[in-house]
Amino acid sequence: MRAAFIGAGVAALLAAGGALFLGAQTPRQRTDPIAKLSQRLEQGEATLEYKGRFGYLESLLKELDIHPDSQVLVFSRTSLQQDKINPKSPRAIYFNDTVQVGYVQNGTVFELVAADPIDGLAFYTLPTQRTDRPRFDTDRSLCIACHGYAWVSQAFVANTYPGVDGTPAFLGGDLFHVTTHRTPFEERWGGWYVTGTHGKMRHLGNAVARNPYRPIELETENTQNLTRLDSKFDTSQYLTPHSDIVALMTLEHQTRAVYLMTALSAQFRAAASPEFPAARRPTEATLNAAVEDLVSYLTFADEIELTSPIKGTSTFTQTFPKRGPRDSKGRSLRDFNLKTRLFEYPLSYMLYTDIFDTMHPVALERVSRRLYEVLSGQDQSPAFARLPLERRRAALEIVRATKPNLPDYWRR
Ligand code: HEC
Repeated sequence: MRAAFIGAGVAALLAAGGALFLGAQTPRQRTDPIAKLSQRLEQGEATLEYKGRFGYLESLLKELDIHPDSQVLVFSRTSLQQDKINPKSPRAIYFNDTVQVGYVQNGTVFELVAADPIDGLAFYTLPTQRTDRPRFDTDRSLCIACHGYAWVSQAFVANTYPGVDGTPAFLGGDLFHVTTHRTPFEERWGGWYVTGTHGKMRHLGNAVARNPYRPIELETENTQNLTRLDSKFDTSQYLTPHSDIVALMTLEHQTRAVYLMTALSAQFRAAASPEFPAARRPTEATLNAAVEDLVSYLTFADEIELTSPIKGTSTFTQTFPKRGPRDSKGRSLRDFNLKTRLFEYPLSYMLYTDIFDTMHPVALERVSRRLYEVLSGQDQSPAFARLPLERRRAALEIVRATKPNLPDYWRR
């Protein structure tokens, strides 16, 4: 099964390979937070402390400025160390805006990714075994079979239909069914644990398909509005007992944002490159559609509406907004709504990342201009009709007050 699964990944990658821009893979000095930590370890400016049951994990998260309350747990056998993952031994993922760390019980490596402006993702592993000199490995060949995608590689949250041992039913089509804030609630989180309450809304998390002959019929008993997971597995084996629903929705939003930003840049590079085969060069119409897609994504214009309030179980809902920045009225793009939508203001905090700022210059200029038209209310077309003008204005005021490197016309 395992070989077949990875085999399918390679096939999917080759299929997508037609669109991959291989020129993007030239080696270069990386500047992401993991590369920086790696350098600090090399130069003896940082060390990783090996401690107790979790080894380097806590120290690693601390050095990368990742809060343990971001923990989300996935139990489908879908990733690198899948022989060690199952519903009794889920894999934990910890994250901040641009870095994700994967931790598997008794795993041989920590799996890490950082958002990368050119390749979409930079991949790293760190051996879990105690050594005098813990060092990252940058070999990505094992990773892109599953994380490679059209134009750039991607991190993602995906929906699967896991059997009792966590093995997902393969349904044909795309290898992974990526979910985002645009995905209906009832089609999300198969294969994931989810702690938190969500009223009458239903999701696919916390559940397996008991009958192998009905692989997409997930159990419904004891799977919704769960605030504890002790009945499912030994939660003491993890840094926290949570797989917080708000953290999961945040990870889902931001991983896709990174993919859309970096894939857009790759398409603009391809369009401008004489070396890129003319037949596959993106047309103006393709570029336009990709710009509009990103603008609608970053403004949550087509986010699904929450029909019940959401409440997480960990401290994530409190600590995430504390990262700010805030304007003089105390407002932040990181403020949650959680009643009818994920965030209060219709503009993603991912604008603060260097992934946004280092987009291909033409892509950046076009996306910035469109964002401004939407937020200022100049654009009142149906695509953005769900965003009330006063919330758009609030988002514009916040970003004006908190993001230094905006184009001049944003300040008018
Ligand atoms: C067999 C497929 C597969 C391979 C190979 C693989 N991954 Fe993943 N990875 C996944 C899937 C699927 C997810 C989404 C969460 C899940 O289902 O576990 C994921 C998620 C992750 C995450 C959490 C962030 C996210 O995307 O949700 C990290 C970090 C990660 N992988 C790192 C790596 C690294 C580093 C490598 C190579 C050393 C690698 N992966 C190889 C399938 C794979």
